Amino acid sequence: MKRVANIAVLVSGGGTNLQALIDAETSGILKNGKIVLVISNNPEAYALTRAEKAGIPCRVVTKKEYGREGAEQKMISILEENKIDLIILAGFMSILSENFTKRYERRIINVHPSLIPSFCGEGFYGLKVHEAALKKGVKVTGATVHFVNEIPDGGEIIMQKAVEIEEGDTPEVLQERVMRKAEWIILPMSAEKVSAQIIEKEQR
Ligand code: GAR
Repeated sequence: MKRVANIAVLVSGGGTNLQALIDAETSGILKNGKIVLVISNNPEAYALTRAEKAGIPCRVVTKKEYGREGAEQKMISILEENKIDLIILAGFMSILSENFTKRYERRIINVHPSLIPSFCGEGFYGLKVHEAALKKGVKVTGATVHFVNEIPDGGEIIMQKAVEIEEGDTPEVLQERVMRKAEWIILPMSAEKVSAQIIEKEQR
């Protein structure tokens, strides 16, 4: 059987980006990688239900149970146990320490709901990003997939896609459009691109 990259998806909430990745695997857009594990830092995340429905093993690791450092250590041991090659942050609302990101250099990717370097960094997550974009009055926003390093939203950019802002947009309406027209497209494409690079590098 062809070797594929083992992917772990880290989530905190609704999991629509996780769903896009699951669907991409089914449709064959994601073929050099396979989602073998979902980790949530929120036991209530609907993303867990999505993973269960798709038959993907799930783990819950909370700071409440393990503490900040302990939670990362726990995640590292789960990731190693499962021989994970690529970690995808898909709406994972926690900043990873330098100790964690250094360990997985160019092996962690994140989707962010703006065109980095606009509206990014600490404090910019979820709806807050769209609120800030509307407040500023930008006419174009979008989404970015990037490698994760020790600087929040500061790693190398892999893909970006622009989305127009429309008159009367609310943060919720804009969030849905950015997801549908950008995130759910470029996250699976980036997952495939990086997975293919990991496999290709091994075969060299
Ligand atoms: C997405 O819009 C994602 O880009 C954003 O949170 C949402 C999660 O939705 N992530 C960040 O803001 C990270 N800085 P989902 O749980 O439905 O995928």
